Amino acid sequence: MEFVEQLKSSVDIVAVIGEYVRLRKSGTNRYTGLCPFHNEKNPSFSVHAVHQFYKCFSCGAGGDVLKFVMEKEGISFYEALKSLAERYGIPMPKRSQYADEDSKLRGALLTMHELAEDNFRSNLRAAAGAEARAYIGKRGLAAETVDHFGLGYSERSGRALVKLFEQRGFPAAQMEQSGLVGKRQDGTLYDRFRNRLMFPIHNETGKIIAFGGRALSKEDEPKYLNSPETPIYKKSHVLYNLHRAKESVRKEDRVILVEGYMDAIGVTAAGFPNVVASCGTALTTQQVQAVKRHSNSIAVNFDPDGPGSNAAERSIDILLAESMKVRIVELEDGLDPDEYCKDRGADAYLARIEGAKGYFYWLADRVRAKQDMHTSEGKVAVLNFLLPKVQGISDPLERMTIANDVAGYIGLEQGMVLSHFRKAVGDRSEKAIERPKSVLRHDERMLLIALLTEAEVRAEIIGQMKEIGTIETLPSRRIFQAIFALDEAGGRVGFEEVNARLEEADQNLLAQAVLNEDGEVSREEVLACVGSMLRSNEQYLKLQIKTRISEAERSGRFEEAIRLTGELQGLEKTARAKRGNQ
Ligand code: CTP
Ligand code: MN
Repeated sequence: MEFVEQLKSSVDIVAVIGEYVRLRKSGTNRYTGLCPFHNEKNPSFSVHAVHQFYKCFSCGAGGDVLKFVMEKEGISFYEALKSLAERYGIPMPKRSQYADEDSKLRGALLTMHELAEDNFRSNLRAAAGAEARAYIGKRGLAAETVDHFGLGYSERSGRALVKLFEQRGFPAAQMEQSGLVGKRQDGTLYDRFRNRLMFPIHNETGKIIAFGGRALSKEDEPKYLNSPETPIYKKSHVLYNLHRAKESVRKEDRVILVEGYMDAIGVTAAGFPNVVASCGTALTTQQVQAVKRHSNSIAVNFDPDGPGSNAAERSIDILLAESMKVRIVELEDGLDPDEYCKDRGADAYLARIEGAKGYFYWLADRVRAKQDMHTSEGKVAVLNFLLPKVQGISDPLERMTIANDVAGYIGLEQGMVLSHFRKAVGDRSEKAIERPKSVLRHDERMLLIALLTEAEVRAEIIGQMKEIGTIETLPSRRIFQAIFALDEAGGRVGFEEVNARLEEADQNLLAQAVLNEDGEVSREEVLACVGSMLRSNEQYLKLQIKTRISEAERSGRFEEAIRLTGELQGLEKTARAKRGNQ
């Protein structure tokens, strides 16, 4: 057996996850608890002891025990393997292929990024960097700032890094995996970044893991080119500038969140080092969790344009889910944070930060601007938009305070708001998700479980099942198909094998089916389910024929109608015979 499988079969996923989550037994093999990957009040996180997986039906997190440890500890596959092996006293194979491959590759990629940064920095000082230096001058960046942020320039040739990496003996495969080098169709390698101002992107420990590159002229597309995802760079986990900002975020007990590299740099240069940027991607829970370790107070300062405000609105939900205290900064005259600091100065910017509205008032203003507040329809529409947001506030005291303020702020009678609000809060407490509500039928679920867990029953029924045409109409059809295909290929038919063949939506369905199970499924029950499937299949076939008969009659094709009626009778006869046998 491969080491990974050996390890997985000797560790108890319930015990491992139980070290992070308080789990409660909620079925024969099922445990539930509060999801450790997002903030929730009612448990939607389950662990299955036999199939050895976890799944959160709220945020979608899910996987096996190794994935859990990787995600929870933020470590690599190899590190998770090692940590579990140590915890369970299972000796790692001496020359582990994972140790070698994984840590060697990461080490090489980090070195390549350091080499690249050196190269970009010296280009910026050299003759080739004249245009980039002129651009930096135009953007008003001081020499210390350029140095502090490690800005550089990627030259035009498109061969500089490739040559450098070749000289250092990096194999082509590693070059490609770094994201710094691309491969043409003819197999030749080229630098991904050419003629751009380069911004190194660091992880929280300060190691360079990626780059952003800005075009120097308007004609150059795209304006920003960024590193792709690599083994050392997971976009959704990284905030630009966090490694520099974190100390002052702690000291100030506040973080400023902006959209762009240039914003983070401009705001820092103006004297606010507690700034991070999300870099063009929608804010994620992982990013919020990374910053939450240093402060739970955040001032969101996105661009004042439409996309910027929409991004700010979306980020509010994610921030609130992580119990952050959220304020939204608004800058006048359509200026972005970088422009504002340069144009209006640090004091003016500080005043904007200090005076930033609580997110709730910002949202209220935003929706008010879209409605006619003179009409009661308008007021109700505003109320309906705001109430769910009130419900989303996790701190009860803040929730009450805001609910009280809402009335006055949108000019509604207090009584009306409070009664709406009480009702909304009532709904909230009833919403306890005990277990995922399955969209699968009972027989569908039972059969899936039986096919996956009971080899003998599977052998007995699988032939019949393949004949049931209505399976094609079930939500779980692709799971059945995967089981049939594995069976035909003669492989093992278990949860993991089937799961591995499915797309995410179907993996969710399968997890639901398995997590809804309670106790063993008896052979009698399974046979009854096959019977019920066969009957619904029969009905489905009959219905189809009946529809065709009436169509044929309506359009005067009587011969066809008679032939179909014969077919229908035949079908009924075989069905009766089958039932007689059972
Ligand atoms: N971005 C990107 N690709 C683009 C445009 C933007 O990845 N084609 C990301 C960059 O991280 C950028 C951020 O989105 O920093 C914000 O975009 P924008 O407001 O256009 O950039 P600024 O930082 O204001 O850049 P500049 O001032 O240089 O125009
Ligand atoms: Mn800008």
